[in-house]
Amino acid sequence: MIGIDFTYLVAAVLFILGIKGLTKVKTSKRGNMLAAIAMLIAVVITLVDMQLKGTGIGWGYIISGIVIGGLIGAITARKVEMTAMPQMVAIFNGFGGGASVLVATAYFIPTAINNMFDISTVMLSMLIGSVTFTGSVIAFLKLQGWISSRPIIFKGNNIWNGLLFLIIIGVAVRVIMLGQNTPYGISLSFLLIGLAALLGILLVIPIGGADMPVVIALLNSYSGLAAAATGFVLKNTVLIISGALVGASGIILTTIMCKAMNRSLVNVIFGGFGQEVSKSERGGYKNVKESSPEEAALFLESASSVIIIPGYGLAVAQAQHACQELAEMLEKRSINVRFAIHPVAGRMPGHMNVLLAEANVPHEKLMDLDSINADFKNTDVVIVVGANDVVNPAATNDKNSPIYGMPILKAHEARSVFVIKRSLSPGFAGIDNELFDYDNTRMIFADAKQALQQLVLEVEEL
Ligand code: TAP
Repeated sequence: MIGIDFTYLVAAVLFILGIKGLTKVKTSKRGNMLAAIAMLIAVVITLVDMQLKGTGIGWGYIISGIVIGGLIGAITARKVEMTAMPQMVAIFNGFGGGASVLVATAYFIPTAINNMFDISTVMLSMLIGSVTFTGSVIAFLKLQGWISSRPIIFKGNNIWNGLLFLIIIGVAVRVIMLGQNTPYGISLSFLLIGLAALLGILLVIPIGGADMPVVIALLNSYSGLAAAATGFVLKNTVLIISGALVGASGIILTTIMCKAMNRSLVNVIFGGFGQEVSKSERGGYKNVKESSPEEAALFLESASSVIIIPGYGLAVAQAQHACQELAEMLEKRSINVRFAIHPVAGRMPGHMNVLLAEANVPHEKLMDLDSINADFKNTDVVIVVGANDVVNPAATNDKNSPIYGMPILKAHEARSVFVIKRSLSPGFAGIDNELFDYDNTRMIFADAKQALQQLVLEVEEL
């Protein structure tokens, strides 16, 4: 029907504009809103379409689903800590995959199907959805700390996974060859769902906690593909388009993250990397100089340019507001203050941007790696707040370092560097940070929020 198809097209365009809006901090809220409106239009018009076609609608189920799902979503989103956002995204991806399996199953069992294409799309939806569901649950459990975040590797795991995948494809082909959904085919489809669920677990369990955000982006992409396959099952154009958009944007995000960590996707998925290296508290440091907020304030008094580098520790300490307060105070003293954001600072893409936006840091103050790295050598003071790996010069100096090749923020090139963290213990990569030994670096061993609040008081007194 033309009116329905046209409305689907409007929803699809809104989805695309929504994603475009999300690429910039300034337009991200609007982007989010556009995508939400698109989803509302898609749901309403699908229901209208069903009503017009005379398909029975179980309003009771639909309304209870919307109310229960909406409540769970709203409460979780309000309650979740910024540091726990990755696991929330993980479990929500999983729900997407799970929903695709349920829809495909609910369609497959009672519907009279007699063509291979329809059965293929059902198989695809069940396979990808099931892998996404269990893979995401494992990612959630690892990030939540409910199971070990270490890679759990068993002998020949990649070979076993490969074999399992071939068996799943064999089962799918058998069901497709049957040409219709016979009781035998339906039983085989349950077997396929079970085996794919096992594959999801086995694929994610060998991946270490440090690589989990990449896995989540990848699973996000899978959940989009599962939704697109379900769109083919239900012959719902807007679900195909939105699923494909999620699939494509998830893969682009995965690639960006791998690039920022100087890792290949194959290495992340099959490498069993991200293991927690034994973390020595003191490491092999020889030239560490302990400092205080008082001393940092004196350096800031005579500075004309300052760069603040936030990291995961800022998120843990919820120090974003104190950080912005300090920045405002320095700017009032005509000091040029900017924030340098590494693409993988924190534990998920955009982690630092979201935190600082929450504290009303103007987005034009947020500089990415490429636009700020050349400026460090002309900067008076750099303040590193709870960041570690993303400023480790070993990534450029030490060929044997596990993070060698990872692009870093060149904080060490500034005239003076203050690092705020609680101890000398390593960051996510589990290695010593050469920066802490540099002559121009001073360490303030404290919680990020407390140290920044203290620093604000000291600057106020100058
Ligand atoms: P990290 O290297 O993990 O360092 C964070 C530092 O924060 C720690 O060394 C810790 O030192 C400190 N810290 C923790 N709690 C603190 C608190 N309350 N107050 C002050 N400091 C605190 O973080 P980063 O520099 O942001 O680097 C991110 C890491 O995550 C990289 O290795 C990156 O590859 C990995 N990763 C990120 C992503 C994305 S998308 N963001 C994806 C995959 C992997 P103390 O314990 O001594 O305080």
